[in-house]
Amino acid sequence: MQKSLHKIAGAGIILGVTTLEREPLLPYTDQVAKATAPLYERVASVIPEAEWPVHAPYIAAINEWKSRRRAVILAHNYQTPEIYHCVADIVGDSLALAAEAAKTDADIIVVAGVHFMAETAKILNPSKTVLIPDVKAGCSLAESITGGDVRLLRQRYPDAPIVTYVNTSADVKAESDICCTSANAVAIVESLGAKRVIMIPDQYLANYVASQTDVDIVSWKGSCEVHERFTGAEIRSYRSGHPGIVVLAHPECPPDVLAEADFVGSTTGMAQYVHRQRPSKVVMVTECSMSDNVAVECPDVEFVRPCNLCPHMKRITLPKILTSLEAMQFEVTIDPSVQERARRAVTRMLDVGRALTRA
Ligand code: 13P
Ligand code: SF4
Repeated sequence: MQKSLHKIAGAGIILGVTTLEREPLLPYTDQVAKATAPLYERVASVIPEAEWPVHAPYIAAINEWKSRRRAVILAHNYQTPEIYHCVADIVGDSLALAAEAAKTDADIIVVAGVHFMAETAKILNPSKTVLIPDVKAGCSLAESITGGDVRLLRQRYPDAPIVTYVNTSADVKAESDICCTSANAVAIVESLGAKRVIMIPDQYLANYVASQTDVDIVSWKGSCEVHERFTGAEIRSYRSGHPGIVVLAHPECPPDVLAEADFVGSTTGMAQYVHRQRPSKVVMVTECSMSDNVAVECPDVEFVRPCNLCPHMKRITLPKILTSLEAMQFEVTIDPSVQERARRAVTRMLDVGRALTRA
């Protein structure tokens, strides 16, 4: 296979870690205990009983506010189980959240995820109110590239289409030809019929795609601050400590990690692998909360849990979701000219996905 991978120096600004914030507690009444008991049964394997009185009043209040506001909560697979299993209406990877955001008939969309996910929901629903419970929930990949950088890339490679990971700002999407997610990156690149494609901003996702296709990939130097911390040596130590363990890895991991994996896929791809294959022991080489969320649904599978937290995802908490619904904050807005151009890149990705499903 003849292929090459070019790297371009880019700014990699890593956002700071989560600060601890004091959150007021709502009372755990008998009524709340009764209303939330079935939900606790669902998550009892991953949330200690002693913690439930802290979460339950917020869960009850959020579920009430959701119907009052005709709101829907989209939650990414990295959200903690009390959000993912107890208040979310739609859960999934970035691709699923974008596709569902495009279909919802709710008046208000609350995104329990990071800012680029909320922006993507707004791009697809310009007339709806999209809220994010904490505006500081960023992403090191989204911070690694600007719209201006993309314009420079286009000047330098005028004939190469630009495929942009959804983990980017609306400005960056607006300068791109098409978006992709970790679930469809190879298919999107190959759908373009080009010899050379620019793939931004994740160097490791680009690297992975280059290993799966004959298309010449030009990459950027961004990376995910959570996945880049995993190493091949760490994976080998899981294998020696747990003979027979199945290793699933996200394509944002460095190449030495992916080389050790039995399966590489998006967060939903990994979850589906566990649901379908039912390995007796598995390690998901990705953000911590994934294992908790999948473990709730697959109690027969033993999870070895590396714990790399995404500080941005962890900014989203139940009290902040409640405040978001009560105070209608923080509304995501996008400049209309950016919005329209970004929408073209996102909908083109969804259209390619639909065409591939039909084929
Ligand atoms: P997925 O689209 O696979 O859920 O990945 C999103 C993400 O931010 C991974 O770090
Ligand atoms: Fe961004 Fe990495 Fe966090 Fe995903 S896990 S939101 S790519 S920083």
